Amino acid sequence: MNNKRAIALTVNGDRHEILVAANQTALSLLRNQLGLTGTKYGCGTGDCCACSIIVNSKAVLSCLTLGADLDGCDVTTIEGLATANELHPVQAAFVQKGGAQCGFCTPGMIITIKALLDENPDPSEDEVRQYIRGNLCRCTGYTKIVDAALEAARSMREVE
Ligand code: FES
Ligand code: FES
Repeated sequence: MNNKRAIALTVNGDRHEILVAANQTALSLLRNQLGLTGTKYGCGTGDCCACSIIVNSKAVLSCLTLGADLDGCDVTTIEGLATANELHPVQAAFVQKGGAQCGFCTPGMIITIKALLDENPDPSEDEVRQYIRGNLCRCTGYTKIVDAALEAARSMREVE
């Protein structure tokens, strides 16, 4: 108990006050303590981006982030994107363009693309490819993922 610390954070709009171990990752906190298993454990070493989450508007790797460092932060995970009735536009574009196959990389891809579109609502194809360059996908060949990102950008701009 000595090496645990109380932190308070907001995840997908809900406030949580929890104890975290000094060496516990943000990924473990989300998956094992909060039950948010949409964020995936791929490599655990910063090499695949399957564990991407948004912290204070920036995409970060939850496997390389300490849970304690989320104290006071605003966190968004894949579970926080859709509403009860509607997919987030990035999710809808993945469905429309066939951007997911096995789906293991998909939460990290969608979170990363959301972070990109929040920063840059009208990215070029090259900018999309650059932004997701760390997100590994072993199934799709990336083309349909890039198509989905560009489609999501287009549909989000239309709404604004
Ligand atoms: S699980 Fe975090 S980068 Fe692979
Ligand atoms: S859809 Fe299978 S790893 Fe990307």
